[in-house]
Amino acid sequence: VCPVKDEKSAANVTAAPYQTSDFNASEFKPLSQSPLWKFQQDFYKKLGMDAWRPQQVPNFITTNSFIAHRYARVIAAMIRDWCLKHGNKDEPVNILELGAGSGRFAHFFLHHIKQALSELSVSQPFRYVMTDISEANINFWRQHEKLAPFVTSGELDFAYFDASEQCQIDLMESGTCLKTGSGRVPIIVIANYLIDTLPSDLFQIRNGELHQRLAATRIDDQEPDIQKVLDQTFIAYKDAPCPSDWYGDDHLKEILEGYIEGEKDFGFAVPIGFIRSLETLKSFTSGPLFVLASDFGPLSKEAMQEHNNQIQVVMNKAYTVPANFDFIGRLSEKGNGIFLKPACKPSAIATVGYLFGNHDDAYPNLLKAYQDYIDDFSPDDFNLMKEVLEAPNETLDLKHMMSFLRLSQFDSRIFLMIFDQLNAAVPMMKTTEREYLKQAIHSVITLFYRADQETDIHLQCGHLLGKMGEYQDALRLFEISASHFGLTAKVQYLMSILYWEVGQKEDAVQCLKEALNKEPDFTQATERLRLYQAQIS
Ligand SMILES: C[S@@+](CC[C@H](N)C(=O)[O-])C[C@H]1O[C@@H](n2cnc3c(N)ncnc32)[C@H](O)[C@@H]1O
Repeated sequence: VCPVKDEKSAANVTAAPYQTSDFNASEFKPLSQSPLWKFQQDFYKKLGMDAWRPQQVPNFITTNSFIAHRYARVIAAMIRDWCLKHGNKDEPVNILELGAGSGRFAHFFLHHIKQALSELSVSQPFRYVMTDISEANINFWRQHEKLAPFVTSGELDFAYFDASEQCQIDLMESGTCLKTGSGRVPIIVIANYLIDTLPSDLFQIRNGELHQRLAATRIDDQEPDIQKVLDQTFIAYKDAPCPSDWYGDDHLKEILEGYIEGEKDFGFAVPIGFIRSLETLKSFTSGPLFVLASDFGPLSKEAMQEHNNQIQVVMNKAYTVPANFDFIGRLSEKGNGIFLKPACKPSAIATVGYLFGNHDDAYPNLLKAYQDYIDDFSPDDFNLMKEVLEAPNETLDLKHMMSFLRLSQFDSRIFLMIFDQLNAAVPMMKTTEREYLKQAIHSVITLFYRADQETDIHLQCGHLLGKMGEYQDALRLFEISASHFGLTAKVQYLMSILYWEVGQKEDAVQCLKEALNKEPDFTQATERLRLYQAQIS
């Protein structure tokens, strides 16, 4: 039923040796009540920050500087529209990121939103709240040196929030509690790769009749290797007739009935976990609730009908169900809200906006910003361009690389992709090109957020700056690299050259001695030490 290809949806492995007939009738339950979701939460809790290492949970597409920049533009426009009508308030607009994962998106966003609000002359205060169910993620964010300045300025807070539970949100830094009736200004929700991660139900229309697709699972929760557990999970499905007022809610019933209308049989999901969390968040404010979300899933009933196969859980790195954007869109429109969706069918993820609230306000800037920053060229388009950059192509040269770095809003992972070409091009660069590269490196470093122990951007940037004769700046970056990754003999050797160039001759010698202590056979270090010592004496 998933109409879009996704980094996540490549495989659906159900390798365990079970058959549907192995299950008792009582084991079949609505999918949202399946033990699978509890296992899913434990999976994220156990993995913690390891989930964001390369080869683990895919996340580049939703956590790069480009997407954060686009979200910032759209959200700033929404805040502007609201302030034009209601004036600035002392109460900050809360921007809640649900399932904030590594924190990469949040860090980029915080930089970009400040810029976007300032360019639109919006002075309404905001507070960004990073939430998740993983204590490990939250602890990591709270200790992160790049997030600390935003906490100090009161623009950032953290909270444990399980989006599948109806509960209040206790902010860890300010001590503020967000709960029913606590606010009067807009709440903005960011949900990337979350709708598909929260409990959903599955339905199937057969001969014009609504059926619920019940699921029974076998999960080996004693197996220590989480990936094996995922790979070997077996899910059996059984369809049972279902009344359209299954949820006991008039709007949900009307939407289900709207799906039944028409000739075609098709399968679809109801993202009930996400819908319930929106109900909770809506109750926190008398103002509007605006949601910006990226995920994979169908944007219309027609898109679901085009894929007239049986809907089921996708198992690859985690359990996911294609996000039924259309269903949530219909729900927002039932409440006199707005559903913003891309005109063009996305390739991997769609970015949609939902405005909830029974209001008569106009949002011209929001509509225009969605058109300009999402619909015209979306995070999904950016990801497609990245695939072009990754493919072997000998016609790509320095100017293409720099153009892509600009397009990416100086994303560090894009910078690392083009590092080798930049490094090779430095000796041939003209003065103006070097000046521009220096500025670009500055932007990359400012926006860089350390989320794994694999990426040593300071070392790479220091290397380039050293090559361009920016010795002091290069040394500063090498020192930062050393504080995270320790010093290797190779780095100490490079630092010795930089120290020598800036006239810190004793430090240069000391670096070489330390390098040789680590690697006594390091010939270049031995020769350079001899040279320096001769020159000093
Ligand atoms: C697929 S990851 C997406 C992370 C991030 N938004 C991104 O785009 O990379 C799902 C995130 O949601 C969190 N999560 C899982 N279940 C959740 C729940 N019930 N409530 C809130 N967050 C949840 C996980 O810990 C994880 O950080």
